[in-house]
Amino acid sequence: MATADQVKALIRCHAEGDNTRFYAIAMQVAAQAARAGHGRFAQELRELVDQMKARGKALDAGRGPGVVPLAQPRGELTGLLTVGYPKTRIADMALEDPLRTRLERALTEQRQRERLREHGFSPMRKLLLVGPPGTGKTMTASALSAELGLPLFGIQLHGLITKYMGETASKLRVVFDAVQSTRGVYLFDEFDALGGERGSKNDVGEIRRVLNSFLQFLEQDESNSLVLCATNHVGLLDRALFRRFDAVLQYELPTPDIATRVMKGRLALLDTTGIDWEATSSLAKGLSHAEVALACEQAAKNAILKHSTVLHDSDLALAIEDRRGTHL
Ligand SMILES: Nc1ncnc2c1ncn2[C@@H]1O[C@H](COP(=O)(O)OP(=O)(O)O)[C@@H](O)[C@H]1O
Ligand SMILES: [Mg+2]
Repeated sequence: MATADQVKALIRCHAEGDNTRFYAIAMQVAAQAARAGHGRFAQELRELVDQMKARGKALDAGRGPGVVPLAQPRGELTGLLTVGYPKTRIADMALEDPLRTRLERALTEQRQRERLREHGFSPMRKLLLVGPPGTGKTMTASALSAELGLPLFGIQLHGLITKYMGETASKLRVVFDAVQSTRGVYLFDEFDALGGERGSKNDVGEIRRVLNSFLQFLEQDESNSLVLCATNHVGLLDRALFRRFDAVLQYELPTPDIATRVMKGRLALLDTTGIDWEATSSLAKGLSHAEVALACEQAAKNAILKHSTVLHDSDLALAIEDRRGTHL
């Protein structure tokens, strides 16, 4: 039988995700059991370890080739982009059907990209995400990266332009070299920073130059990465930009139905059987997904602090009103 130390070591390995050591200890336990005359238990344990190892291998293979584990951007890339490995799934998002369909289509094309390429087609991979703040653009980038098992790289364009005034175009080249060499989801946020006259008069020339190089890099890019550009201000973008993308995805404030789904998702751990969702979602009208989610978190925290797991209409209404106060 396993000793107390072995059980503790197993739990530690599990928590740290150290599968190799986990299986080694399990095999040790099996060997001891065999010596102690528990042949059947030893045999079962060995079989179980073999099965689990095989399953782990199959899972790794399923994530597909080209997944580059990259902990931190190095060298020239430091300070230009951030990297993350999100866990959000498309199923975690409350989406209108047309948008969900388009995202799923983008995923299918990515997963089947070899087949498409064999027939001379390129998978959809340059997407423009447009819509008000808090409506799920960044969340979409996270979900696409998690679904494809790819790292998510973030580039704040406005920050890049102010930080590297005069050198922005050469920094962009470094970023697009990474797009080429490391397959990932690249999210260029605040894309409108390139589109308008947002900066002071002196910036305008620079922004124009940066925009032109960006468009050139985007056009030339035939990598296997996904390039997403997000903006809150569609008005600031030149319409001619749109055709550089494989698809333009529109994000809107949530309908009452979508708001309800965001709320249910956020409050899944509480008892919400008493909530009148229709009334509550109409209170949330005009708030973004993010604000609705924050109101729910507030209401949930209030309930937990009162040692209750039951949420009432009034609790939620109060949190939404609070959020609206912050919003206005
Ligand atoms: N479609 C959605 N479904 C569920 N939650 C959402 C959705 N969109 C946004 N949220 C919530 O709002 C937060 C902020 O959304 P985000 O994607 O950052 O918005 P933005 O459009 O400004 O990039 C998310 O972390 C999530 O909690
Ligand atoms: Mg965002």
